[in-house]
Amino acid sequence: MLPENMWGQLPDRSARGIAAEIRRLVSMGLLSEGTRLPTVRVVAQELGISPTTVSEAWQSLSRAGIVASHGRNGTVVLGIPDPILGPRRYRRVTQGGGQFALDLSSGTPDPSLLPDMQAALLRAATRVERGDGASMTYVDSAVLPELHGVLLRRWPFVPGALTVVDGAMDALDRISAVVVNRGDRVVVEAACFPPLLDLLEQSGADVIGVAGDAEGISPDSLSAALDANPVALFLQPRAQNPTGVSMTPGRAKQLCEILKPSAAVVIEDDHSGDIASAPVVSLGTGMPDRVVHILGFSKSHGPDLRLAAIGGAAAIVHAVATRRMLGPGWSSRLLQGVLADLLTDRAAIASVAKARAAYALRRSVVVDALTTHGIDARADDGINVWIAVERESDALLALAARGIGASPGSPFTVDASQPEHIRITVAGILGTAAEIEPIVAEIAYALRSERTQPWQRPS
Ligand SMILES: Cc1ncc(COP(=O)(O)O)c(C=O)c1O
Repeated sequence: MLPENMWGQLPDRSARGIAAEIRRLVSMGLLSEGTRLPTVRVVAQELGISPTTVSEAWQSLSRAGIVASHGRNGTVVLGIPDPILGPRRYRRVTQGGGQFALDLSSGTPDPSLLPDMQAALLRAATRVERGDGASMTYVDSAVLPELHGVLLRRWPFVPGALTVVDGAMDALDRISAVVVNRGDRVVVEAACFPPLLDLLEQSGADVIGVAGDAEGISPDSLSAALDANPVALFLQPRAQNPTGVSMTPGRAKQLCEILKPSAAVVIEDDHSGDIASAPVVSLGTGMPDRVVHILGFSKSHGPDLRLAAIGGAAAIVHAVATRRMLGPGWSSRLLQGVLADLLTDRAAIASVAKARAAYALRRSVVVDALTTHGIDARADDGINVWIAVERESDALLALAARGIGASPGSPFTVDASQPEHIRITVAGILGTAAEIEPIVAEIAYALRSERTQPWQRPS
């Protein structure tokens, strides 16, 4: 049976909007399996749009396995396909790893720029031996008290609650499990972290991408997205992966004002933390009860520490911590002790500052050299460079032929019609400016050859 007044006040009458609405109705059980959808002509008339638009929506739903077209017998609802979709975008980004002479696809930090962990590990282990520091019991607080103190002092706003989990991705997973339900609308940056898109797809959320500029999310684009009553906005405040943009304090203030009348909560993924050159910025200073801020330590202190902190809206942070008591309970307090040590040790602090400066230098050398060679590249902050290309597949192939691995841009994008890009990680380009330049010239040559016919190539 079709629901009464099926289209309601459907604000977005594009093919995408119609497909998203049908997906939502199916996932909420309002359009059940076997229901025959109205014909393209009837829907077009009802919505006052072209039959081609409806037909495009029906085709995209069919490709997603949500409906099946039976020719003259109409289009029938199949249901939402098995949610075991897995990290399909993430797999596309990482699949080349290991097979290139120079692999710039990884998005991981340069191991030689991570602080030396040996002394911190020894000190943490000694504290455990002595019976202070890390604990052996199940009932102690999930966050090691000395780490809690360090985190509170550096948090960008006064958090209602604070906890520690196993990395920024774990934080996104656990927070989205609390905040997002099947069929909910969720706003993300139009180009963002592929595993977040995989995760939201698996949650059955209807994802809306918002555009950005050099200062962060575009206010107009966010205002328009809020018309769809999303439950959440996921954003990266600094060193946005993949574009490298860090949000300005002025933009954070503007976004806060736009968000205030809505009900959406904000999840900020500050995944690059201390290696970002821009100062920390958060919407939590304007609306602490609606923001959950994630601070990652993988890029600055090591991916295998597997630690990130979550702080902000008490209801959400408590829900994450409480649910986790039915799983691992807490993140290793031994490793939390190592992190607390590294965050307060002068040598480790200096080492992270050195890494921050080294990444900034590599970014500017790489972007300047690419620009000189006529390639449109940006990397305001962080460890990645986002490069505009004519055709992603040709660019990847041209680089692969020279033994260079890069990430395809499409897994990062919400909407396949966005301009094509590839991403390279500067963490993998080692050496002085003089040593880096020839490598970048090789990349630029590969990318230019991608758009040049063989007979037009410079000799
Ligand atoms: C935007 C973003 N969020 C989260 C993560 C995952 O961080 P972690 O290693 O702390 O899980 C990354 C890793 O590259 C990232 O780029």
